[in-house]
Amino acid sequence: MTQALLLVGGKGTRLHPLTLTRPKPMVPAGGVPIMEHLVRRAAEAGVTRLVLATSYLPDAFRAHFGDGSAYGIELCYITEETPLGTGGAIRNAAEMLTSGPDEPVLVFNGDILSGLDIADLVRRHRDAKADVTLHLTRVADPRAFGLVPTDEDNWVLDFREKPTTPEEIVTDQINAGCYVFTRSVIDRIPAGREVSVEREVFPGLLADGGRVLGVVDTSYWLDLGTPQAFVKGSTDLVRGLVPSPALPGPRGEALVLDDAEVADSATLSGGTTIGRKAVVREDTRVHGSVVMDGVVIGAGADIESCVLGENATVADGVVLRDAVIADGDHVSAVPAELAR
Ligand code: GDD
Ligand code: MG
Repeated sequence: MTQALLLVGGKGTRLHPLTLTRPKPMVPAGGVPIMEHLVRRAAEAGVTRLVLATSYLPDAFRAHFGDGSAYGIELCYITEETPLGTGGAIRNAAEMLTSGPDEPVLVFNGDILSGLDIADLVRRHRDAKADVTLHLTRVADPRAFGLVPTDEDNWVLDFREKPTTPEEIVTDQINAGCYVFTRSVIDRIPAGREVSVEREVFPGLLADGGRVLGVVDTSYWLDLGTPQAFVKGSTDLVRGLVPSPALPGPRGEALVLDDAEVADSATLSGGTTIGRKAVVREDTRVHGSVVMDGVVIGAGADIESCVLGENATVADGVVLRDAVIADGDHVSAVPAELAR
């Protein structure tokens, strides 16, 4: 009966303006909040209790997920008055766990889509008698992540968060934002102050000779923290490239949610989502985009690789590429800076 923590307190500034009105893990990808895919996968993997470590816009989470009973998992909430950083959030939220000192505790970043076998990660952690086990993945450009080189037996040699010099880029293995901690290791994180798990806890554990295991996984993995990555994640979900039990409809070229109105002559493709009560008028093309609830797109428009925030409106004939439109905004003609 593994218990888990979910880190969802970040401000999500790279996803502005979408995260001005909702926390990043609540931005809908594939028709449901980003983190709902993880909540369902965690429940399927046998996680019984999941504590949400909130800080920014904390009420949005409970309003959607409630006590978790609809998702087959017990959800609890704890809010940091001022953000405690990733390590401080783990220490603080662990107070709501009943796991014993030797038991494993899962920790997840809230903005990740992945096909990781969660139960297997916990098994590997137990078998290796590790202090912490990190889910690792390989990426072409690791600079925006935590770099994690390992030895031939998968023990972690170093942890370098967001390296700034080329000499520091010693591996393409990165921290994929999912950990198994032995509970007693969490209890040794300093309480009541800001702590970064990436810059303080992991390097400190390694310096003290801690047993930190890395599990390199090759299944789907994406951090949805930037607009480009978010659009890719959502369209990959809709097209069925990500194993998720949370997609609210069949996989395919487009996901059209309840009460949306799409004209017969409109074309939807590339894993587009059309939100609830959204309207897409005649001869409009929407490709590879996220169209949120209540959006209205006029006739003869051409939208590609865009995010249209809730209740946004787009006038007839508008051409948009790679744009992120805020909730409620009106696009009457193509602003020069968006017409790339
Ligand atoms: N409760 C709480 N409090 N949560 C926080 C805080 C905080 O002070 N700060 C960040 N978080 C949460 C965010 O909401 C997010 O879910 C998670 O912690 C990670 O924060 P990001 O802002 O998304 O970090 P990142 O993407 O730059 O880097 C992290 O993830 C990468 C993988 O996607 C690091 O863990 C990297 O090492 C890693 O490679
Ligand atoms: Mg992130």
